[in-house]
Amino acid sequence: MLEKNKIYLMDCFEFLNEINNETIDLAVIDPPYNLNKGKWDNFKSQNEFMNFTFKWIDRLIPKLKKTGSIYIFNTPFNSTYILQYLINKGLIFQNWITWDKRDGMSATKRRYNNSQETILFFTKTKEYVFNYNDIRLPYDSKERIRHAQKKGIIKNGKRWFPNPSGKLCTDIWHITSERHKNKINGRTPKMPHATPKPLEMIERIIKASSNKGDLVLDCFIGTGTTAFAAKKLERHYIGCDNNKKYVQIAENRLKNGKF
Ligand SMILES: C[S@@+](CC[C@H](N)C(=O)[O-])C[C@H]1O[C@@H](n2cnc3c(N)ncnc32)[C@H](O)[C@@H]1O
Repeated sequence: MLEKNKIYLMDCFEFLNEINNETIDLAVIDPPYNLNKGKWDNFKSQNEFMNFTFKWIDRLIPKLKKTGSIYIFNTPFNSTYILQYLINKGLIFQNWITWDKRDGMSATKRRYNNSQETILFFTKTKEYVFNYNDIRLPYDSKERIRHAQKKGIIKNGKRWFPNPSGKLCTDIWHITSERHKNKINGRTPKMPHATPKPLEMIERIIKASSNKGDLVLDCFIGTGTTAFAAKKLERHYIGCDNNKKYVQIAENRLKNGKF
């Protein structure tokens, strides 16, 4: 078994071979999408891409504990295939999360502009961690909530009072992409990576689906967002990327707190 709290310069298949079975509490996987965002995201055909995707999924599933969870990012189109594959492998579907990126993924004028990504949330069995109280969000209707806090609202014959920590988190996540967040006068500055995920999004996943001291795995770690969030939230992490530059960026981020 590889040592935890480290990021390895390794191919994902080689890396996953070195992880003991049933040792991972949570896998946060942001893999290639076959959108040509870099050399690493370029496949000869959709078929080749799906074969690659199914191959790493096959290697990863045995590494999850029986109580483990897995989150997989991708386009909605690719996610339809991934979802079916995971169901056939016997994993338990929990959510199809739509990430509203507040940003366009393309500039097409031939159809609606894609502005969402999918995050599939599956668990290995029906016994799993879900800390719903740790990911509550502010209520939308401030006025109604202010009123309800004083007197409550009658719901299904019972008096309901809002939770002081906010509402339950839904499966639509409105989180601005890193690219969009960092725009200066409408222009995107050069980022260290084409597709870094927003830290608050990865933190939400880790808070919900793991406990302090648990082990979080990411086999496509890029700028190290998963490792950084795991460390911040007092979880252990283990990850890899096959690009030396990204491993260095991730290691620096873990040391200095920024890219
Ligand atoms: C979508 S990015 C991950 C971005 C990351 N979530 C972040 O927040 O920075 C996917 C990463 O997978 C890496 N990658 C692609 N193919 C790989 C492989 N076969 N083994 C390991 N890493 C790979 C790429 O170098 C890239 O950094």
